[in-house]
Amino acid sequence: MRDAATFDAKAAMAAYRTTFEEGCGAFLARYPETELYAPVRYLMSLGGKRLRPVLVMAACEACGGKAEDALPAAMAVELFHNFTLMHDDIMDDAPLRRGQPTVHEKWDANTAILSGDALHVIACEALLQAPSKALPELLRVFHRTALEVCEGQEQDMAFESRSDVELEEYMEMIRLKTSVLLAAALDMGGSSAGADPHVRAALYEFGLHVGLAFQLQDDYLDAFGNPENFGKQVGGDILADKKTFLLIRAMEKAQGADREALLEELGSKREGKVNRVLDLYRRLGVDAELRDAMAGQVTLAEGALARMKAATPQALQGSEAAMALLHGVAAMVTARLN
Ligand code: IPE
Ligand code: IPE
Ligand code: MG
Ligand code: MG
Ligand code: MG
Repeated sequence: MRDAATFDAKAAMAAYRTTFEEGCGAFLARYPETELYAPVRYLMSLGGKRLRPVLVMAACEACGGKAEDALPAAMAVELFHNFTLMHDDIMDDAPLRRGQPTVHEKWDANTAILSGDALHVIACEALLQAPSKALPELLRVFHRTALEVCEGQEQDMAFESRSDVELEEYMEMIRLKTSVLLAAALDMGGSSAGADPHVRAALYEFGLHVGLAFQLQDDYLDAFGNPENFGKQVGGDILADKKTFLLIRAMEKAQGADREALLEELGSKREGKVNRVLDLYRRLGVDAELRDAMAGQVTLAEGALARMKAATPQALQGSEAAMALLHGVAAMVTARLN
């Protein structure tokens, strides 16, 4: 039974990805083949997991709508996500994205800023294709979310130069920079199907926990991921003194010589920094703590869906494959740990 559900979920995921790629390819073809749009096409062509548009379409079908109805919202969310990556990679001085040079490396920072701006506008234009009845609410959620992501990114940057960031502040920062977009994806999928506000609120809460688990895993992989298949520079967070779950807990736990060693690494770019910090993380056991925290968020995500189904059994009665996908998605996205 569980295997069947997993299989359904994976097949549904692949089908949504195909719908998205076809729809988004056709949508982007309307923009001219000029220099401004070349980085947009480049980054979009590098793929990625396409998790957010899959969530938009799955939520729409779980609520009884058709995936095609959700395509404008799915495109808007994925295009917006790619815009944030283009700018995030400048801010994080990241050389690699999806296994290829980042836009500011391949072109330059000014190009990445301007094409990123264009990509944000393209995301808004994609959303304007949504059914007119759903549009006002979609626009409200989309723009509120976009500002929250900026707020999260501002905190992420500000935390780099602080050494007293607490776990609670970190959780709020990752809620803003990452979780709200996954939550909005689910909410906007619900809107695209004309779902009731309380159903959308439950989907949103589910998405927040999936998103927290997702960013915890992203932090884990940034430190411990396999450079062969991670697609980004492993150790980038350590080099930039990002206040990740791992670093915050390590600072809280380290005593004596460990603490001094850790403080000495902060702000420095000495040869071997990444490996020395990784050794400390392992010795202090913060890698295992992160995995527990992630599992906790997966459980909370599942709980949010279960409560919704118990309270309103007639809601989320659309496609079974879509529902199986939502049930499995938190565990699926956090399964890859190296
Ligand atoms: C990367 O997102 C940025 C984060 C919020 C962690 P993804 O890991 O979803 O990136 P792609 O789209 O699959 O490349
Ligand atoms: C990214 O967080 C969040 C946004 C892009 C809004 P990260 O900086 O951790 O994402 P990656 O690791 O570069 O993908
Ligand atoms: Mg960043
Ligand atoms: Mg980054
Ligand atoms: Mg990261």
